[in-house]
Amino acid sequence: MSRIAFDGAAVEVGSETGRGAGRTLLHPLTLELTERRIAVIGANGSGKSTLLKLVDALQEPTAGSVTVDGVDTRHDPATIRSRVGFVFTDPSAQLIMPTLREDVTLSLRRSVPRRERAARAAEVLDRFGLTALADQSVFDLSAGERQLGALAVVLAVGPAVLVLDEPSTLLDLRNTLLLRRTLAALDQQVLMSTHDLDLAAACDRVLVLEDGRVIADDDGPAAVAFYRRRCDEGLRPGPPGSTGGGS
Ligand SMILES: Nc1ncnc2c1ncn2[C@@H]1O[C@H](COP(=O)(O)OP(=O)(O)OP(=O)(O)O)[C@@H](O)[C@H]1O
Ligand SMILES: [Mg+2]
Repeated sequence: MSRIAFDGAAVEVGSETGRGAGRTLLHPLTLELTERRIAVIGANGSGKSTLLKLVDALQEPTAGSVTVDGVDTRHDPATIRSRVGFVFTDPSAQLIMPTLREDVTLSLRRSVPRRERAARAAEVLDRFGLTALADQSVFDLSAGERQLGALAVVLAVGPAVLVLDEPSTLLDLRNTLLLRRTLAALDQQVLMSTHDLDLAAACDRVLVLEDGRVIADDDGPAAVAFYRRRCDEGLRPGPPGSTGGGS
């Protein structure tokens, strides 16, 4: 497994405009992620996507640093991106060719010799049950089919670390189960954000985010139980923290 290290990494936006103090999207975070399956959970706007983007150099820390196996995301984003594959929530950000087959083939251009690409693409598409849809216009695919397609495109090149931002939001039950099985079988280290608490509970390690801070860091079942309690408490009447009999 790779070693993803946050060393005082923080993200603040807005202060550069000179209007106000700016907003902290992620408070200084120091931790190392070396587990095989890691999930990040938390409310909308808690900073999950911000944290994930730091790992693939899609977002620079405004303080501290983030490294993957010692490679600093700010100093060498190209190396980072060759090792870390990022699957966006919105698959249209990833699919740029007319069909999935072409997209998967295109993604193989740097890693697989030309004459082997077609066979490899077919193999990847088959693994995701996408063979029958491989040559259909991507515009005619359902949202969930596109999401699976985007995952196939990223996995085709065999990144060491796979980062997924809410991979199951658009998927029906059958494809959620397919996704779960696929992720479980992958050799890669997986770091994902999700609102699917079953998916999170099955992970080796789960970070719970709240307002840009990690408020729990535990194994899957314990972190999910903590998050459920936290949400329950937040929904009860009365000032926050005044109820619930402690944490
Ligand atoms: N460039 C930016 N400028 C100002 N605010 C931003 C910027 N980017 C993100 N934010 C804000 O930062 C907060 C955290 O965003 P982030 O996308 O990380 O949340 P999230 O936990 O992924 O939420 P969701 O579950 O809805 O995907 C949000 O309130 C968002 O509006
Ligand atoms: Mg998000």
